Parts: sequence; C-alpha cells; structure tokens
Amino acid sequence: MRIAIFASGSGTNAEAIMNAAKTENLKAEVALIVTDKPKAKVVERASRHNVPILICDPKQFETKAAYEQEIVNELQKNEISFIALAGYMRLIGPTLLNAFRGRIVNIHPSLLPSFPGLDAIGQAFQAKVKITGVTIHYVDEGMDTGLIITQEAVRIEVEDTVDTLQKKIQKVEHQLYPSTLQTIIEEIGRLNK
Ligand code: GAR
Repeated sequence: MRIAIFASGSGTNAEAIMNAAKTENLKAEVALIVTDKPKAKVVERASRHNVPILICDPKQFETKAAYEQEIVNELQKNEISFIALAGYMRLIGPTLLNAFRGRIVNIHPSLLPSFPGLDAIGQAFQAKVKITGVTIHYVDEGMDTGLIITQEAVRIEVEDTVDTLQKKIQKVEHQLYPSTLQTIIEEIGRLNK
C-alpha cells in the first residue's frame, strides 16, 4: 500500500508514520509527503527519510479546484492509494475528495465532536474539561466531521499547562496514528480478497 501524508507544519506525526513504515508495525510505504507550506519543518523530515515531497502552494493557483487537481495528478502519478492528513490545515475540497473518497483519514487533537477546528488543545484547556484526547476519522466535506474510526482519551490534570497537555496529546497521536493506519490497511486487504 503506497500512502501519502499531507502536513502543513512540524510533521511529528508524519515522522512517526515514516518511522513505523520502516518496521513490521506498519505495512505501508510512505511514497509521498504533500505540503502547502514550502517552509514547513515537515519538508526537512521528509528529506531526512528520503521520502519524495510535493510542495504545492495554493497561492500559485487561481482556484482551489486547480490547486487540488495538481495534487491529484501527482498522487496518481505516484500510484498513491491512501491519504493520511497529519496537521494539514486546509479543508479538503470536492476535487480531492471525489478522487479519493473513503480513502482519506485525518487525526485531530480532541475527542470529536468536541473542539473541532483550529487550536483544539487550547480550546479544551480553556473549557476546563477534565478529559480530552485524540480522534482519527474519515474525511468528508465538513470541518472535522467525518465518520470516527478511533479515539483515545487524555486526562487534563490540575498541574497541566497547554504546553504539557500538547506533549501528552502528541505522545498518544504518535502511537495511535500508525497503529490505526495498520488496522485500516489490514481491513482494506481483507475486503479486497
Ligand atoms: C497534530 O496535533 C494534529 O492532531 C493537529 O495538528 C497537529 C500537527 O502536529 N491537527 C489538527 O488540528 C487538524 N484539525 P505535527 O505537525 O507535529 O504532526
């Protein structure tokens, strides 16, 4: 299974997936990293892992459809069959969704449907909830609204700050994302038999 990871920022989740893909824990090849931010740290991580990177700046396209069509062309050229969004901070539009329907998943740092959108960790902290967590879900046209695949809770302790909470959440993400991708890949394999 050749997968692409989309990321806009640091890319720690992308790195966790690339690491897992070098072991038996994740039987997939990370065949492409896609970013919309030329200066994102994920670019450096991808090159360290020798994974090809597609830098596609939406500002260079007249429409979102044209931007996404360029990405779809590259995904097809690279024979990508599955997409994992990992901190890709853009809504997926119909061009990409229709080309990869049911084959795009996302990780979000809250227990959806609570705290969708930007700064989910800060939102949970401000709301003073005692439990937040991580969600992995299929992607649809909405903002963090697709069918939930799995969730893991993270407790917010009184001594936590946004910073310590973020570290706890990311630790969970780095385990949960690769293992969930492996489960999905096994399921796809069973269905294709
Ligand atoms: C992750 O915590 C991910 O859950 C979040 O962005 C972070 C990316 O970190 N995604 C969203 O908020 C999506 N709505 P990373 O670049 O270090 O993997």
